[in-house]
Amino acid sequence: MGAPMSSLFFLLLLLLLLPPSLSMASKPPPPTPSEWPLQFHSLIWYNRTGVLQKVELWYDFINGRNLNIIEEQLTNHVLYDVEWDNGTSFYYTLDPYQRECDVKHFPVGILRPNWLHGATYLGQRMVDNFLCNVWEKVHFIRYYEHVATKRPVKWVFFEGPPGYTAHVMTFEVGAVLDDPNWQAPVYCFTDEAKKENPNPKIASLQSLIMTWISLWKTATV
Ligand SMILES: *[C@@H]1O[C@H](CO)[C@@H](O)[C@H](O)[C@H]1NC(C)=O
Ligand SMILES: *[C@@H]1O[C@H](CO)[C@@H](O)[C@H](O)[C@H]1NC(C)=O
Repeated sequence: MGAPMSSLFFLLLLLLLLPPSLSMASKPPPPTPSEWPLQFHSLIWYNRTGVLQKVELWYDFINGRNLNIIEEQLTNHVLYDVEWDNGTSFYYTLDPYQRECDVKHFPVGILRPNWLHGATYLGQRMVDNFLCNVWEKVHFIRYYEHVATKRPVKWVFFEGPPGYTAHVMTFEVGAVLDDPNWQAPVYCFTDEAKKENPNPKIASLQSLIMTWISLWKTATV
């Protein structure tokens, strides 16, 4: 073996013996968002450019259903949005003096637990006083997850009203709403509700909710 050959051999040996962290620039992969629990109950404050909403979310992937109970600040208007995984959604009120119901069909079912899959990691921020990992999904939503507990803290939609922001107040993993509460009222299945004067505030709230939920579903399938 000539001198150049043996030094090459020595170099190769050195490369093999070095720990990989020294021989390659290694960077840990960016964190990925936690999947949503298969069943949970959450109380969420939404701020859409100054209009505040209280939303109770019952996510129940196991039974293929999702419910949003939406109330705008000091209006006494409560809108129920029951979504089924077969694509049917019911929007209704339960006020005996304001019986309204609308049934819509979406091409996709409820959000998958891994709907954040493939989101782009943006780093860490302090939001609502919690240190969070931040991701963005298809320029549609920015999502903040508490580093320590992996619970969602906040999300912001870019579509719809500018700065449509959710602040998660409670997050009860495993909480399930009883079956009777998922049943749409009888006037969803007759024409009776359509005969009454629809409340324009509820109608505009419903069209807003419908728009962002359908965007949310289609942006994240
Ligand atoms: C709601 O959002 C607006 C900006 O769109 C902000 O000025 C206001 O302080 C927010 N209100 C609350 C209660 O977070
Ligand atoms: C979807 O499921 C709900 C609840 O079982 C039902 O009321 C609705 O009619 C179904 N929709 C379709 C298109 O089958």
